[in-house]
Amino acid sequence: MQLSTFYLFVLFLPSAWATATLRDWRDLNATVGGRLIEGVPFSGPCFSNLDGHDKVPNPSACDAVRNGYDDELVRSNVSGAYMITQWETCQRSGQQCLLDYLDPKNPSPSLPSQSCNSGSIPAYFVDVRSASDVVAAFNFTRTTSVPLVIKNTGHDYKGRSSAPGSLALWTHNLKNISYDANFTPEGCTKSSPALTVGAGVQWQQAYQFADAHNFTIVGGTDRTVGVSGGWVQGGGHSALSNTMGMGIDRVLEFKIITPDGELRVANACQNTDLFWALRGGGGGTFGVVLESTTLVSPVVTVQAILLSITSSTVNLTEELYSIMIDNGLKWADDGYGGYVSGGTAVYLTPKLTKEEHVESMAPMLEFGKRLNATGAGVYEVLEFPTWLSFFNVFTETELEAQGPPVGYSIAMASRLVTRANFQTPAARSELLKALLAATAQTPTLLFDITAPSSFPGDNTTSISPVWRDALYHVTVKVPWNWNATTDEKLRAYDLVNTSINHLRAITPVASYSNEGAVHEPEHEKAFWGSNYERLLGLKYKYDPEHILDCWQCVGWESSSPRFSCYL
Ligand SMILES: Cc1cc2nc3c(=O)[nH]c(=O)nc-3n(C[C@H](O)[C@H](O)[C@H](O)COP(=O)(O)OP(=O)(O)OC[C@H]3O[C@@H](n4cnc5c(N)ncnc54)[C@H](O)[C@@H]3O)c2cc1C
Ligand SMILES: *[C@@H]1O[C@H](CO)[C@@H](O)[C@H](O)[C@H]1NC(C)=O
Ligand SMILES: *[C@@H]1O[C@H](CO)[C@@H](O)[C@H](O)[C@H]1NC(C)=O
Ligand SMILES: *[C@@H]1O[C@H](CO)[C@@H](O)[C@H](O)[C@H]1NC(C)=O
Ligand SMILES: *[C@@H]1O[C@H](CO)[C@@H](O)[C@H](O)[C@H]1NC(C)=O
Ligand SMILES: *[C@@H]1O[C@H](CO)[C@@H](O)[C@H](O)[C@H]1NC(C)=O
Ligand SMILES: *[C@@H]1O[C@H](CO)[C@@H](O)[C@H](O)[C@H]1NC(C)=O
Ligand SMILES: *[C@@H]1O[C@H](CO)[C@@H](O)[C@H](O)[C@H]1NC(C)=O
Ligand SMILES: *[C@@H]1O[C@H](CO)[C@@H](O)[C@H](O)[C@H]1NC(C)=O
Ligand SMILES: *[C@@H]1O[C@H](CO)[C@@H](O)[C@H](O)[C@H]1NC(C)=O
Ligand SMILES: *[C@@H]1O[C@H](CO)[C@@H](O)[C@H](O)[C@H]1NC(C)=O
Repeated sequence: MQLSTFYLFVLFLPSAWATATLRDWRDLNATVGGRLIEGVPFSGPCFSNLDGHDKVPNPSACDAVRNGYDDELVRSNVSGAYMITQWETCQRSGQQCLLDYLDPKNPSPSLPSQSCNSGSIPAYFVDVRSASDVVAAFNFTRTTSVPLVIKNTGHDYKGRSSAPGSLALWTHNLKNISYDANFTPEGCTKSSPALTVGAGVQWQQAYQFADAHNFTIVGGTDRTVGVSGGWVQGGGHSALSNTMGMGIDRVLEFKIITPDGELRVANACQNTDLFWALRGGGGGTFGVVLESTTLVSPVVTVQAILLSITSSTVNLTEELYSIMIDNGLKWADDGYGGYVSGGTAVYLTPKLTKEEHVESMAPMLEFGKRLNATGAGVYEVLEFPTWLSFFNVFTETELEAQGPPVGYSIAMASRLVTRANFQTPAARSELLKALLAATAQTPTLLFDITAPSSFPGDNTTSISPVWRDALYHVTVKVPWNWNATTDEKLRAYDLVNTSINHLRAITPVASYSNEGAVHEPEHEKAFWGSNYERLLGLKYKYDPEHILDCWQCVGWESSSPRFSCYL
């Protein structure tokens, strides 16, 4: 017991590999204008100890933590807080500082007998405000070997925005936002209407700005994911992506500091190789993006159907899935995107009129009518005059219905389901069988109908080309709570793997880099396909000293101590 504790201590103490002295940190703080923040656990105020030292709890700060525990707006505004909480912890050593996500007011996790540890939370964060902050951090890492991570909103499902004992560049406060009706990328001649946002801008802010200026931008269905960080760089998807493209299809320019300290402007006319790499190659790999500029489109009218099975006595999962699958190709052609999970389906299209929508969705409406007639469910056909008006309803009702969106730990896995899976009756029945088998193992299986099914792209992005053939991105998740044992966590990772294997058996090797399994098999092929070799070459070109690294990212070094907390 004593001995194993001793070994854990030696293995996971940050200073076992990092060589920064207090003086180094103090110098860094001076270089970044006093904006160095100590990394402390979000739930720390509720505990009477921190990293082995006694301290006094702070009841009022603790109340704020309990109240904001599952609130993404609160979490994303705190440097040491992460949305998916195992990335605050050291899963391998069990060191953590968490509350009960099902009942954050439960006092058990923070009783004096419980310990609060920094786990994987970076030792320090630089509150980035300028290019020179980033250069200072590169310099610091080069001289001290302290691992460097980039944290924007902390939504990452694969732990790529935290690392034990690390220095984090926190881009959250880069909140500039502006619209240019005639934006011309540097070095180019053609202009288009575009939105430029600092790296810290999140979807809610961006959507509100777009709405106020009467245009549409294409983004995720979450209020607090970042516009310019992991989402866009990893191939972020939207319910509008079917018709309007993915984030990588619409981004026009990045301002990025590469690890050599240069501020580069990457677009279709200059630094084109870097631009290509940033359009799907993944965040945290090629440099620190300070700003991105993205194409805007005129306001779209969104035709939608929201359907919800409310009965707990009849099981209509198979019927719902059958309707989806039998109409999958038609609805892809009609521009539909959306989300289906358990007994809730949301389909929307910017491409059809209300009449065309009602006609196209007839099989789903028929189902809705039957649900209503038998008291088994409800449905609504709705027209939204703008994306924001849809988004507000969606985030307030649909997502809430699925439980807390953040503040817990989860294992996740995903797979792209392609056109071929819909093309023959045999393929459709095979797909239905696989989806039902996966649902039986992981009942919260979610269909993201967010692939660019009708958007061919221009062959200048670096995600797996399978995305262009896909209709669905299907995810499975298994959550766990603060008191889960290591075995339970391992079982959760195992379960999502077994569940998604039903789909792996009938689909090409392809998954979404931001929502794939932590232990995604053949991850290079799954995330990037034939683009991987070129991406790897660009990683060596722009980061020859390997200053940046993250889990299953392009060119990662899996044996690095920064990954010592992964299970
Ligand atoms: C509740 C929830 C909802 C989601 N909804 C969607 C959705 O609708 N569509 C979708 O496609 N995805 C969605 N995601 C997945 C999301 O896109 C990923 O989690 C993504 O990694 C978040 O990027 P971030 O920058 O906001 O988060 P972070 O965790 O801060 O960063 C993620 C990765 O990007 C890197 N990074 C961050 N900022 C920068 C930067 N400025 N420069 C370079 N690298 C950077 C980090 O180092 C890290 O590797 C969702 C996730 C959650 C938890
Ligand atoms: C950095 O310096 C500022 C200003 O002097 C100070 O307020 C802050 O606490 C320092 N940060 C750390 C981590 O010591
Ligand atoms: C974010 O945190 C800062 C600093 O702690 C605080 O001043 C600000 O009010 C917070 N903003 C929100 C939206 O919570
Ligand atoms: C980073 O290091 C270079 C080379 O030593 C130096 O010229 C530069 O001033 C440093 N920049 C910062 C912001 O520390
Ligand atoms: C944000 O915008 C302001 C006003 O235009 C500008 O002064 C500032 O330099 C910008 N900040 C960044 C980080 O780009
Ligand atoms: C947006 O459109 C509305 C209604 O047509 C109009 O009143 C408003 O001035 C427009 N706003 C901008 C910024 O163009
Ligand atoms: C559902 O049924 C109720 C009566 O039970 C009816 O009032 C309502 O209009 C129906 N809703 C729809 C969308 O048909
Ligand atoms: C409903 O049926 C599906 C598929 O047959 C099954 O996986 C699931 O567990 C069932 N759900 C309930 C609540 O019984
Ligand atoms: C896409 O680009 C690659 C590499 O330049 C090329 O080999 C391929 O033919 C292109 N495909 C299309 C459809 O243009
Ligand atoms: C964790 O705590 C919950 C109550 O908060 C309890 O139901 C559960 O059994 C506990 N799990 C373990 C592994 O101790
Ligand atoms: C996931 O399942 C595959 C296929 O059975 C297996 O090869 C792989 O080792 C599993 N991975 C994990 C992490 O369990």
